Amino acid sequence: MGKVCVIDHPLIQHKLTMMRAQETGTKEFRELLNEIAMLMAYEVTRDLPLKDVQVQTPVATSTFKMIANKPIGIIPILRAGLGMVDGFVRLVPNAKIGHIGLYRDPVTLKPVEYYCKLPVDAQQRDLIVVDPMLATGGSAAAAIQFLKDRGCNKSIKLVNLVGCPEGIEYIQKTHPDVDIYVAAIDEKLNEHGYIVPGLGDAGDRIFGTK
Ligand code: PRP
Ligand code: URA
Repeated sequence: MGKVCVIDHPLIQHKLTMMRAQETGTKEFRELLNEIAMLMAYEVTRDLPLKDVQVQTPVATSTFKMIANKPIGIIPILRAGLGMVDGFVRLVPNAKIGHIGLYRDPVTLKPVEYYCKLPVDAQQRDLIVVDPMLATGGSAAAAIQFLKDRGCNKSIKLVNLVGCPEGIEYIQKTHPDVDIYVAAIDEKLNEHGYIVPGLGDAGDRIFGTK
């Protein structure tokens, strides 16, 4: 079973609380999301392998650590996942970006695919799927399945800002090999499939579409 890691650093909790407030506008919401994404990226990449390098300092030559060449792919689930990409790329600048377009049908709550474009060498990369909201888990599970169906079986991590017990359980059931990183696990889903207390519709708040 994949691990569930709650990244609840005080800076993240503070920024997330600001995002939740309904009076927080689009510009600030987007900025906060990217800042949190960068802070989460720090923890999500904690297991990156290191290699030894020889460096001459002004004083002596010695062996130090640098990140070993490990190809990474960031996979935002459109639209809202786009709001986390810049934060990740600031810490992992060599990552390639793949996009999976899914929207959740408002009646059935089932994900509907409308776009998929991955790096040509996605199968050789460790992939990090990003999306602010893990509600029923249907969208994230479908995105991970798309990746697996295209031969991406190396390592897949899922990073969400806000999760809930239902979504986490669904991912653990459908993709037990995937580690889940969240900044908070909220109480429940309401009858419309929204996370309670959550932060509302992440895509609409990022892009100002409501
Ligand atoms: C939201 C969110 C997730 C999904 C979560 O996207 O960004 O992708 O819902 O819900 P689930 O866990 O129940 O599948 P939405 O479908 O609203 O599309 P958008 O990002 O284009 O707004
Ligand atoms: N998608 C969102 O954007 N917010 C929720 O609370 C649930 C799904």
